[in-house]
Amino acid sequence: MAQESQTPETVTCSIDGLEVTVPKGTRIIDAAARAGVTVPHYCYHPGLSAPAQCRMCLVEVKGVPKLMPACVSQVADGNEIHTHSEKALKAREGVLEFYLVNHPLDCPVCDQSGECGLQDYVAEEGRAMGRLHEPKRVFGRDDFGGDVLYHGDRCILCTRCVRFMREVAQDERLTIVQRGHRAVIDTFYGEGLEGNIWADNVVDICPVGALVSKDFLHKARVWDLDRTPSVCPNCAQGCNVSLEVRDNQVMRLKPRPNPEVNAFWMCDYGRLNYHWINQQSRIEAPLVRDGDRLVPSSWSDALLRLAEVAAGPGSAVRTIASPFMANEDLGALRRLMEAMGGGEGAFRAEKGEEIELPGWPQLKLREDRAANVRAAELFGYARIGDETGRGGLEAFAAHAGALIVMGDDLADAPADFGVNASLFIYIGHTLSPAARNAHFI
Ligand code: SF4
Ligand code: SF4
Ligand code: FES
Repeated sequence: MAQESQTPETVTCSIDGLEVTVPKGTRIIDAAARAGVTVPHYCYHPGLSAPAQCRMCLVEVKGVPKLMPACVSQVADGNEIHTHSEKALKAREGVLEFYLVNHPLDCPVCDQSGECGLQDYVAEEGRAMGRLHEPKRVFGRDDFGGDVLYHGDRCILCTRCVRFMREVAQDERLTIVQRGHRAVIDTFYGEGLEGNIWADNVVDICPVGALVSKDFLHKARVWDLDRTPSVCPNCAQGCNVSLEVRDNQVMRLKPRPNPEVNAFWMCDYGRLNYHWINQQSRIEAPLVRDGDRLVPSSWSDALLRLAEVAAGPGSAVRTIASPFMANEDLGALRRLMEAMGGGEGAFRAEKGEEIELPGWPQLKLREDRAANVRAAELFGYARIGDETGRGGLEAFAAHAGALIVMGDDLADAPADFGVNASLFIYIGHTLSPAARNAHFI
């Protein structure tokens, strides 16, 4: 029997004159993205079902009398698709005009300004002037619970937030109430979004400024933010994130799509656990002990002094590492400990309940609330302390040999921690009372 081909069936079409070949069944909106063409859209989100209700993605397919919603229409072989034909643009201009009937002129005070689907599409395709003079519908601001605020005036009823809570968080806490122009999103009686650790994702997927984060409220204009791709360090899942910074201060974390790790989502625990990065009391230069004082030093002087002392006769070394450290740092600390004669290594890490995202079960807020507990264990560091990541320092506090602490802030350590150590090296970014006892910082 002839072997069946494993190659998926493909179709070839043209989108705005660009030829593209995609697997059969691909939606026009995704095929267009493959060709580098963005089709405007509101209700469509690749992580949710597609209700095709906002009508913002209407495009023209040659030979088809009606405009097609690109978010649910599949490309067929030989299709000639025009996303910016006169007919498509005219229809979308009309859609936008309706959205603006009740939308307030909030852009100057709206946190979404600069990354808003309504602002962008109106600027690109909307009418230059509105034609309505009637008063706009007015709703107040509603606290949805957790980190989420809702501005009903700005809502375009795309239902992304409702579908996220229903399909992905699988915890139906949002719905549409009322009808017609009075329709708004609301929580169910007596229960908001508080307690659901995935709730802040609705802020990310809201295409306008209707859902905003209390944590980010009026903190920065988004065009002032520098964005750095990063990985959330707050549990062992490693969600891909964008670290968004202004004036050297982290303003917010946003999920960065990765289909292997976190899809489009992240948890609120990881998202909001960044304020410690902005601590003002950072150590800015190496410090070397001189009697009772810690004296700022250059890196070269501090390292030369340290090399002299550390090269002396070995004594039992004890190290406290951190499960937030990278593999390379954990390995380097281990090698340093061995070069100094060997000893014991330990680390402390917070532990909590594992919480799965039901609609994307690969993503879990993991039990270990630190990025690299597994590597710390593999490098031979023993877990000490309790489930809050504190305690367990007794054997280290009074150690008389060499003591190296890296990445643990020692915030709960006794004030006389390390005073008996023959050599105490502290590698960290803040100075707790215990860390101040070190010889080298
Ligand atoms: S609040 Fe945002 S996500 Fe929810 S329906 Fe309104 S516009 Fe869409
Ligand atoms: S699941 Fe873990 S890695 Fe992902 S955002 Fe939450 S704390 Fe960070
Ligand atoms: S994105 Fe297609 S109808 Fe909303």
